[in-house]
Amino acid sequence: MLKHILIWTVGTFIVLQAIQIDIPEPPKNIDPKNEIQAPKEIMPMLKISCYDCHSYQTKMPWYGHVFPMSLEVKSHVKEGRIAVNFQEWGHYDDAKKQKIYKGIAKTINFQMPMPMYLSIHEDAKLSKKERKQIKTWAQSHIVEEER
Ligand code: HEC
Repeated sequence: MLKHILIWTVGTFIVLQAIQIDIPEPPKNIDPKNEIQAPKEIMPMLKISCYDCHSYQTKMPWYGHVFPMSLEVKSHVKEGRIAVNFQEWGHYDDAKKQKIYKGIAKTINFQMPMPMYLSIHEDAKLSKKERKQIKTWAQSHIVEEER
């Protein structure tokens, strides 16, 4: 009996692995000129704390391929790249850049990087000072509309 349960459980687990989310393939030629040019103290923070979801340089962890975690992880990468891809910066128009700078200033204190991600990626944690640096940088690019 126990053996059957075990076989069914393992079998179901294996079958469920077929459920996958596809992240679109990165383009073949990624032009480095399109990458965001942030100051040298900001750039490493973006790379360490944001690039997994906001660039083509995703370091996919092993559990990112295992159902059900894969659905969560891959959808974050997929949605994250759509919201902001720092390697596609050169293709964004001013309105999109403004939206992103505002988004960064708004989300850097709590929402970004995603708390769930931080619970696993110790190295991506940003100190209060670092968050402030990123916020100040983002704000310096926000153009207030004239009234
Ligand atoms: C684990 C994946 C993940 C990481 C790491 C991550 N993000 Fe995101 N980010 C997302 C996803 C998914 C979305 C789109 C869904 C949403 O808006 O909640 C998003 C959306 C955003 C947006 C648009 C939100 C808005 O309201 O305009 C900004 C700006 C952003 N992220 C900035 C950052 C910055 C800056 C970092 C690094 C400090 C970062 N993110 C790290 C997954 C991530």
